[in-house]
Amino acid sequence: KSLRKAVIAGNWKMNKTPTEAKELIAAIAPLVKDAGCDVVACTPFVDLSSAQEAAEGTNIQIGAENCHWEKSGAYTGEISADMLVSMGVKIVIIGHSERRQYFGETDVTVQKRVRAALDAGMTVILCVGETLEQREQGITSELVAMQTKIALGGVSAEELKRVVIAYEPVWAIGTGKTATAEQANEVCHTIREVICELYGKASADGITIQYGGSMNAANAAELLAQPDVDGGLIGGASLKPNDFAVIVEAAT
Ligand code: G3P
Repeated sequence: KSLRKAVIAGNWKMNKTPTEAKELIAAIAPLVKDAGCDVVACTPFVDLSSAQEAAEGTNIQIGAENCHWEKSGAYTGEISADMLVSMGVKIVIIGHSERRQYFGETDVTVQKRVRAALDAGMTVILCVGETLEQREQGITSELVAMQTKIALGGVSAEELKRVVIAYEPVWAIGTGKTATAEQANEVCHTIREVICELYGKASADGITIQYGGSMNAANAAELLAQPDVDGGLIGGASLKPNDFAVIVEAAT
């Protein structure tokens, strides 16, 4: 576990104006300046510039929440990986369940976005996770393994070094119904076994696997103490400076 980089990333989702983003980063920065883990804030596209400005000189890295797979063209409303990189944004969340649920994201479009982001030199936070129905059907492991394998199709072992995987059980996102530490570790371990199958033990030992889904100041320490949980992808609690700082501290 100590081999791996601990990464705590906030996923702000559709929250904060550019001014509010600047204020939030400024509030978080002093609380996480001594973090022993990587600290990331993934913001709406409109906030990236102001967040980066506020993060200048701090240990907070700014990321995006999605990117398209084409470099440019007739894709109204979309943003390309190259556009993000051109403004210094080198991290992007791909495949979040809300994009799968509301915006037609599939395992194949996830694979295409992963390819585009890696080609642009970015680091990808790849989201996988089962719905409550799939868990109740007892197919969580098979489902998460399939999502991981398809998303990583064509990704080399070298490129894999720029991939963080976030296990986010859909039924725990925004619900306050956090997975137990055992449930979180079990699926993160399954994902690590898939990486071992695809890339070998060294890659499996080296990849950072986060848990996401109602991780908060109260439960972070127990979740992050799990052998296969290397970090967190944080929604609601990332908008609360003190709570986010407690989670970062727990990862340190
Ligand atoms: O990507 C992180 C997010 O899905 C988790 O949201 O609010 O349950 O921490 P939340």
